[in-house]
Amino acid sequence: MKVLVIGSGGREHTLVWKIAQSSKVEQIFCAPGNAGIAQQARLVDIKAEDIDALLEFALKEKIDLTVVGPEVPLVNGVVDRFQEKGLKIFGPGAAAARLEGSKVFAKEIMSKYNVPTAGYEVFQDSQKAKDYIAKKGAPVVIKADGLAAGKGVIMAQTIEEALKAIDDIMEDKVFGSAGEKVLIEDCLTGEEASILVVCDGENIVSLASSQDHKRVFDQDQGPNTGGMGAYSPAPVITDDLLAIIIETIINPVIKGLKQEGRIYKGILYAGLMITSQGPKVIEFNVRFGDPETQVILPRLKSDLIDVFSAAIDGSLDQVKLDWDSRACICVVMASGGYPGKYEKGKIISGLDQAAGLEDVLVFQAGTVLDNNSNCVTAGGRVLGVTARAEDIKKAIDKVYEAVSTIQFEGAHFRKDIAYRALDRKGHGRAVL
Ligand code: AMP
Ligand code: GLY
Repeated sequence: MKVLVIGSGGREHTLVWKIAQSSKVEQIFCAPGNAGIAQQARLVDIKAEDIDALLEFALKEKIDLTVVGPEVPLVNGVVDRFQEKGLKIFGPGAAAARLEGSKVFAKEIMSKYNVPTAGYEVFQDSQKAKDYIAKKGAPVVIKADGLAAGKGVIMAQTIEEALKAIDDIMEDKVFGSAGEKVLIEDCLTGEEASILVVCDGENIVSLASSQDHKRVFDQDQGPNTGGMGAYSPAPVITDDLLAIIIETIINPVIKGLKQEGRIYKGILYAGLMITSQGPKVIEFNVRFGDPETQVILPRLKSDLIDVFSAAIDGSLDQVKLDWDSRACICVVMASGGYPGKYEKGKIISGLDQAAGLEDVLVFQAGTVLDNNSNCVTAGGRVLGVTARAEDIKKAIDKVYEAVSTIQFEGAHFRKDIAYRALDRKGHGRAVL
């Protein structure tokens, strides 16, 4: 089987690493990939957003299965385009991917099908939005409707911050057309966790629970990033709670979308707040999370190709996933300055030493090989250093031992990844 993975981050490196373990796979291509992915796949110099070129490549190479990492090509219809040409591809079509492409659409679906989420109002007029904020007070959450590379959410602690967010999004258009509509949401409190399920349009199979750390600095300080680390399992998600999440959130959304003529196939990622009134949706993504994938897939024992094929063929009811009971933690090493401005081209040392440690995996994200074959930084999030151990505490020790062997100028990482999971009683129990 020839497989094409679309994307270039740590998520895609993890997908390639896992897919390479399948006995059904002969060759893996990755477009555009990174220096780490190049060790297991042939890199193809096509951007993840260039659907025409990706389609041409897949047809020419007779790709048997394409797996899409990021949201932009999904929202822009890469799955529909490939299917029109008879190519197998894993992910939702554009109609279903709108769940991530428009936060307003996601809220409308949740309202219509009674899925618990934060209360909200939608605005297209900045003055009306400001009047509403003045009436409502702070804290309040301001969200741009469209895709904004994970930066379109502002948690405003004061009315001034909220008003500034409205000016930034609606007047100065910092997120472009993604900010034409703005959501103003109630601020939920509780513990966050993510549940990802695989869906074949009808049936679902849930993946191991996980939680990422979005803020750049320790103790959840500083601006939001794409994710500075993650852990799995998320002990807050018990088996009983998972059943509630599936019954009150996942199933109604998938059935509701189907009723709307939007069949959901692929990964559905529910970002949740576990509130005192039960789980509520913060956001939906229509793809694997990054860095959640880096801690979920190393725990999956089953063949991922079988899972993708069953989702495409509509036979997920035949699939039962087998999990490694160990805990898994990923610490993201980022360029100094990220998520703001940062320099590129810094030589990374110690990669082999870290990867040589037992039960440590180093997934690369923003890396390239320079002209002298040095692995150098090429993005904000550079590496996802990952470790597995029998409990979260041991995994923390192991992952930071691995991180300490890796150096590049300006490297920044959080030192408190998974600490929340440790606060919980019975933390070491690695369940789904
Ligand atoms: P998102 O980009 O939608 O995942 O949002 C980024 C982060 O903002 C989430 O992980 C939450 O920590 C936070 N967030 C978003 N919406 C809310 C909300 N309604 N209440 C509390 N926190 C929120
Ligand atoms: N880590 C959050 C996301 O993938 O959207």
